[in-house]
Amino acid sequence: MKRIGMLTSGGDCQALNPAMRGVAKALLNAKEDVEIYGFLDGYQGLIYSKFRLLNYTDFTGILTKGGTFLGSSRTPFKTIREPGPDGVDKVAAMKQTYYKLQLDCLVILGGNGTHKTANLLREEGLNVITLPKTIDNDLWGTDMTFGFQSAVDVATDAIDCIHTTAASHGRVFIVEVMGHKVGWLTLNAGMAGGADIILIPEIPYDIDKIAKKIKQRHARGGRFTILAVAEGAISKEDAALSKKEYKKKLAKREYPSVSYEIADKLAKKCGYDVRVTVPGHTQRGGTPCPYDRVFASRLGSEAGELILKGEYGFMVGYKNREIVKVPLEEVAGKLKMVPPDASIIKEAKLLGISFGD
Ligand code: F6P
Repeated sequence: MKRIGMLTSGGDCQALNPAMRGVAKALLNAKEDVEIYGFLDGYQGLIYSKFRLLNYTDFTGILTKGGTFLGSSRTPFKTIREPGPDGVDKVAAMKQTYYKLQLDCLVILGGNGTHKTANLLREEGLNVITLPKTIDNDLWGTDMTFGFQSAVDVATDAIDCIHTTAASHGRVFIVEVMGHKVGWLTLNAGMAGGADIILIPEIPYDIDKIAKKIKQRHARGGRFTILAVAEGAISKEDAALSKKEYKKKLAKREYPSVSYEIADKLAKKCGYDVRVTVPGHTQRGGTPCPYDRVFASRLGSEAGELILKGEYGFMVGYKNREIVKVPLEEVAGKLKMVPPDASIIKEAKLLGISFGD
């Protein structure tokens, strides 16, 4: 008999349910008896012992469902060692729940913050297997995270919709794309949506270069310009600041986000009518795309197999077109950013896309 705990933590994404279904199918189809406990709302469920014993029917009919049927929440790693408002010792409480249920392993689905805590639990002696979820695709140790391709679809759709209205009115449009501190989502959706300018955190922009590019397009007869701007895009001046100085400046920013600041500056510099569209959390919502359904199912089933073999302490990831197991200590605390010298950046530039650099 194996007893497994499962939880989804951090911001949700589209293929969490297919991934959990993959793990459960691999386990429940095995010869060994398996009990699966689902913790509700991420690490909160583990801390406060909020769980439910899951059965086969919990995992049927969820392949196409976005979100997570277990619920999710953010439990910041920064304060994981500090007592909660109710004085609870979070790490001790999580261990207590694990031992009380006599679990053999925890399956944890999450992104960067989630992996730091997962690795801490491993260091504390718990058996842990993780799965890489995030629309940001910024997890170290895997070429791809599930949720990413679905989010690319949503963000691309937003840019496609903006294209037609921008063309009708001859406007400059900014579509602000999620991605936290990295530009994978903006880069891919921007290229797929035919954006003329793509701004990502890894390549700081110069507002004058952006203005020049728009003027050039318009001089060549272009009636409109589309900018795909990452929510974490940063100007060259701001990139030169220390982290502390930049944080201070951000706290005082009088715009709701970077796109509004860029729009205002461009309007003042060039007199353009610049509009901003922010698809926001729609990028994390809705149905997982077919790629993500397959990908998350593959990762989940491989996680199930590792558990059956008793191999713990890994994230199941994807490297060079192969599913691989990556030691958790190699994953936790690192960010996978877009390398500015990546060939996709060169190719985008060959297509005439400006990165404002
Ligand atoms: O990590 C996923 C993500 O959607 C990021 O792209 C974004 O910056 C963040 O989560 C938003 O977080 P929240 O949903 O907590 O506002």
